[in-house]
Amino acid sequence: MKWFKGLSLLLVMLLVFSLAIPGFAQLKGKIEIFSWWTAGGEAEGLQALFDIYHKKYPNVEIINATVAGGAGTNAKAVLKTRMLGGDPPDTFQVHAGKELIDTWVKTGFMEPLTDLFKSEGWTKVMPKGILDIVSYRGDYWSVPVNIHRANVLWYNRKIFKDSGLTPPKTFDEFFEVADKLKAKGTIPFVLGTKDGWEAGHVFETILIAKLGAEGYKGLWTGKTKWSDPKVTDALETLKKVFSYINPDHSAATWDEAYQYIIDGKGAMSIMGDWAAGYFFSKGYTDFGWAPVPETAGIFDALSDSFGLPKGCKNRDNVIAFLKVLGSKEGQEAFNIKKGSIPARTDVDKSLFPEYQKSCMDDWLRDKIVPSVIHGAAASEGWVTEYKDVIALFIARPDVPTTQKALIQVATRAGVKQ
Ligand code: GAL
Repeated sequence: MKWFKGLSLLLVMLLVFSLAIPGFAQLKGKIEIFSWWTAGGEAEGLQALFDIYHKKYPNVEIINATVAGGAGTNAKAVLKTRMLGGDPPDTFQVHAGKELIDTWVKTGFMEPLTDLFKSEGWTKVMPKGILDIVSYRGDYWSVPVNIHRANVLWYNRKIFKDSGLTPPKTFDEFFEVADKLKAKGTIPFVLGTKDGWEAGHVFETILIAKLGAEGYKGLWTGKTKWSDPKVTDALETLKKVFSYINPDHSAATWDEAYQYIIDGKGAMSIMGDWAAGYFFSKGYTDFGWAPVPETAGIFDALSDSFGLPKGCKNRDNVIAFLKVLGSKEGQEAFNIKKGSIPARTDVDKSLFPEYQKSCMDDWLRDKIVPSVIHGAAASEGWVTEYKDVIALFIARPDVPTTQKALIQVATRAGVKQ
């Protein structure tokens, strides 16, 4: 009977082992993953994560709950309704920084993930700057899957080469280049502004150009006043940049507008590096990049992350998904497609396209400032008002009125002016 005892022991051990090691214990059921990643590059990045997850947990059905609209303009409203209504998705895309902490953590909607960060070793492989913006009161609250850069000037290399142009380093140069392009019948500046956030995106990068890293950061803490003449300069600059834009900009989303660049009809744009992901997804490789004029050495940063909402229906499946998100394999697969760089520092750089390689170098070298439109710098209420004021400015470019509105918005957000 000795062999029988031995066999039972082995079976018990196998059972304990299978329960203790996730992945071994077959997960079942569903997982609903909520995001706004529907555009080219975004969708492929998300799919790359799903593919890894599906391979590890083939019995879990993935529900891809996307709400289209760049920067989460539409998704965030849907998310809020669901969260407040007690119907949270199993996990959702949220920007690290103020958006995560002020909207969802301080209000008690999330579960802390500190044990997971420790057991997965993420505290050792993610930079302090990133860990800090998913932290609150000594705990970690979401898993960062990437780092995006917002202050990038994209351009069509062929147009620049054929016209003997180089990417502008200052806004004066930008306007000179733009005039030359216009004279040749090329659209100098391309942007889609349909969703209402895109001008606010461009404006934040111009604020960085005109105020510098510290001056820009001070806008969100009260150290820099919104009445500053440099803010006036930034508004004047934005107004002038928009005078070179594609005439159908208000009918196009950020990604749709890039057809002009791909087709060689438009020359430059200012956008985050999800634009690179979009170009990859279209098989377009002849794009160039440079820092937005007057922002060299500054990295306007944001990070997409996912967390664990209290009361989600498929907790174990979410934990397994978060592990994929934070893993080396997951971060490589996702970011190669997405145009961003991993939030982990131990990835294989050689796997990445040239753009991300250069971005990884900049990340280590540059001064980092938090993006406002993409949730890092200010709480959501402030971001929404800022966004709307700048969207209105595009339709009615009145500098003094707009600056006054920005001062009021900051005051309402509790930052003394
Ligand atoms: C940002 C997000 C990026 C990208 C972009 C455009 O807010 O962080 O991942 O998706 O919006 O949709």
